[in-house]
Amino acid sequence: MKFLILNGPNLNMLGIREPDLYGTLTYDGLVDYLKSEAARLGVEAEFFQSNSEGELVTAIQKAYGRVDAIVINAGAYTHTSIAILDALKAVSIPAAEVHISDVAKREDFRQVSYLGMACCCKFSGEGKLGYVHAMERLMQIVREG
Ligand code: DQA
Repeated sequence: MKFLILNGPNLNMLGIREPDLYGTLTYDGLVDYLKSEAARLGVEAEFFQSNSEGELVTAIQKAYGRVDAIVINAGAYTHTSIAILDALKAVSIPAAEVHISDVAKREDFRQVSYLGMACCCKFSGEGKLGYVHAMERLMQIVREG
C-alpha cells in the first residue's frame, strides 16, 4: 500500500514557528518519525511539502493511478483552497485531513475546511500522532475497498 503524505505552507517551519502551538519537532524530524511509523504499519510512504498551492494541486494530480491514499495537512490552504478540494475530488483517492494544532479551538477563519469536503476523516490537535492515526484509518478504508 502506497501513501502520499502532503504538507502545505509553513509546515517546513515546524520547530521554529509558534512552538507553543505546533511543538518543537522540525519538518525533517516529522518526516523521519512518519517514515518509521509507516514502516511499522507496513505502508510505503512518499513525502511532499510545498508553500505553493499549485504545487500541492500538481502533487495530488500526479498521485492519480500511483498512490492508494493521501494524508494532507494543507496548512492555511485548508481554509481557502477550492483548487485543492477540486484536485482531491478529481483523483478520487481516499484522503485524510490532518492538523497538528486543534483548529476547532482557534480563530473563526480556521473553522472552514474546503478540502475536508473531499476527505474521509479529520485528525486535529493530536500533533504528529494525527498523521499516524490518519494512516491507520486510511489503511482500513483501502483494505475495505
Ligand atoms: C495547521 C492549522 C492551520 O490553520 C494553519 O494555517 C497551519 C497549520 C495545523 O497543522 O495545525 O499552517 O494546518
